[in-house]
Amino acid sequence: MKRNFILLYKHKQTGMIVTKTIEATVDLLDRKRKEGKSIGLVPTMGALHPGHLSLIRRAKAENDFVVCSIFVNPIQFTNQEDLEKYPHTLDADSRLLETEGCDMIFAPEVIEIYPNNNEPVPVYELNGLDKPMEGVFRPGHFQGVCVIVHKLFNIIQPMNAYFGEKDFQQLAIIRHMTKSLNLGVKIVGCSIVRDDEGLALSSRNMRLSESERLIAPMIYQTLQQAKLKIESQKKIDITPNQLKEWISDRIVSYPSLKPEYVEVVNRITLQPIKDWKGSKELIVCVAVYDGSVRLIDNIVLFS
Ligand code: PAJ
Repeated sequence: MKRNFILLYKHKQTGMIVTKTIEATVDLLDRKRKEGKSIGLVPTMGALHPGHLSLIRRAKAENDFVVCSIFVNPIQFTNQEDLEKYPHTLDADSRLLETEGCDMIFAPEVIEIYPNNNEPVPVYELNGLDKPMEGVFRPGHFQGVCVIVHKLFNIIQPMNAYFGEKDFQQLAIIRHMTKSLNLGVKIVGCSIVRDDEGLALSSRNMRLSESERLIAPMIYQTLQQAKLKIESQKKIDITPNQLKEWISDRIVSYPSLKPEYVEVVNRITLQPIKDWKGSKELIVCVAVYDGSVRLIDNIVLFS
């Protein structure tokens, strides 16, 4: 029997197609392409929530056949404990994906993606996009993201791929990589999904204690106040650095919140700005510890 027949199966509860190997995946998707179907890809690490599902919904609306990849990519983790704690919830994920009409899950094992354990991986030129913000605190993280996303594009060969604006720096880096390597995939950025109080949905939110959970929405509320503060002034009387300090001071005033970084950057170059000249394409990005849980968020200014 051919190997790919064993490694493509229907999920026992939902009947969704799940592939574990590259061979089975390529084989199936080749057939879909021959049938003239456009393929959309939503790369994830699983533990799915409505933020992920919004990407699936958008992909469903714009493609004939939607693949969700679920792979906890070890080489993008800079903290071993974070990797070990990452939830693996394929059954629950499969049920959610089925309700959204997702057509297929690609859920490979680590050995399938990285067959030669210590094989050197490519180094991506990212034009400095990986240096600020996350790059300072998670060195090497974006190189790991580029490796897996590039591999996924090679395997799935999607027409369109969907990423959330919640990970704004990641989205900018993937756009850059895709363009500079001429990968021929259209990158679609999708808005941040928040809960009723404004907290950006994240698989990490479930690690928050009850009291931390109550405080967490203050991160976005502070960003909204900062936006209002800046945009309501005819002549802005504080510098970007003072705005950063203002945001930091407010965040730190809440029990359990501790900002790791607050940056006001150009949306395209991701470089921090010093003044408000040409203040059209700006975004405030933050990483904040709520207790021991690291949360990221952002807000666009002058949109
Ligand atoms: P993961 O954290 O699982 O996120 C998968 C995708 O969902 C990312 O594009 C992320 O930006 C998006 N997403 C997460 N929360 C969201 C929210 N509240 N609103 C909108 N989109 C949201 O990001 C990764 O996985 C990995 O780095 C990956 C790209 C899969 C590479 O391993």
